[in-house]
Amino acid sequence: GLVNTKQMFSKAMAGKYAIPAYNFNNLEQLQAIVTACVETDSPVIIQVSKGARSYANETMLRYMAMGAVQMAREAGSKIPICLHLDHGDSFELCKSCIDSGFSSVMIDGSHLPFDENVALTKKVVEYARQHDVTVEGELGVLAGIEDEVSAEHSTYTKPEEVEDFVKKTGVDSLAISIGTSHGAYKFKLKPGESVPPLRFDILDECEKRIPGFPIVLHGASSVLPEYVELINSYGGKMDGAVGVPEDQLRKAAASAVCKINIDSDGRLAVTAKIREYFAKDPKEFDPRKYLGEARKELINLIKHKNQTVLGSAGNA
Ligand code: G3H
Ligand code: 13P
Ligand code: NA
Ligand code: ZN
Repeated sequence: GLVNTKQMFSKAMAGKYAIPAYNFNNLEQLQAIVTACVETDSPVIIQVSKGARSYANETMLRYMAMGAVQMAREAGSKIPICLHLDHGDSFELCKSCIDSGFSSVMIDGSHLPFDENVALTKKVVEYARQHDVTVEGELGVLAGIEDEVSAEHSTYTKPEEVEDFVKKTGVDSLAISIGTSHGAYKFKLKPGESVPPLRFDILDECEKRIPGFPIVLHGASSVLPEYVELINSYGGKMDGAVGVPEDQLRKAAASAVCKINIDSDGRLAVTAKIREYFAKDPKEFDPRKYLGEARKELINLIKHKNQTVLGSAGNA
């Protein structure tokens, strides 16, 4: 069945790689994730956001996840699969996921004052413990492109807070803010400017305070230029889309970062392939054709991430 993150993270820590956490909202995404992780023999976290729950129905997503485990087993694969709630925003939402069979949840109290974040996170941990469900908490706020000066407006994680937070809450992993952000427009670059490096100095300071403790990176899509170019060449308008360079993620994966969240890269791959398909074959109207092409590209992308960026391939 579904497993929590405990063993995945201890193996990732020892092996100096990161577990991929891919978001899913629909059948083709989930099929691609499972197929690619089975083919690369990679452990995987499949995650559901609040938005995914309202798009696809929580019950549907949960049974799809169980179907994904069964699909892997029938293919002869033993890869561990964790079903995780992404960005849980209340105790009630986390409880509902725990009660219905999720094996891991995130409680995101990062926008709250420290003490309130601690109290909320602790409450979720106490409930989750009774059900063998692991909990991810967060300290620091990820930058948003809406911020005029992202470096100043983003609230990087304060390393002096992490030990206290982990001790007081009992969380199993901690998401931190070191310069990544959600979506396809992570950095606002002036002409000729290149992407600023992640704040590995802050990551190092955090690691020193909680040695051997699993750290999580959100907003870790690379926004691959090939996809942005394909989208734009077939009528899309995604100028200025930019993500975290893969080298930065390789470096993070080798550290105490044990979970790397990727959603936008998959969205871009799917959009690029569907735009291309529609442009090249305007007569086609069977969704299996263009969704099938999108799914194929998603499989390639996920294999690439597992094999060459996160290093999770071969570690199931
Ligand atoms: O962190 C956000 C994830 O990419 C999920 O996005 O809320 O649009 O489903 P969503
Ligand atoms: P990206 O938007 O960079 O893919 O981040 C996804 C994420 O952090 C989901 O929680
Ligand atoms: Na790691
Ligand atoms: Zn996130």
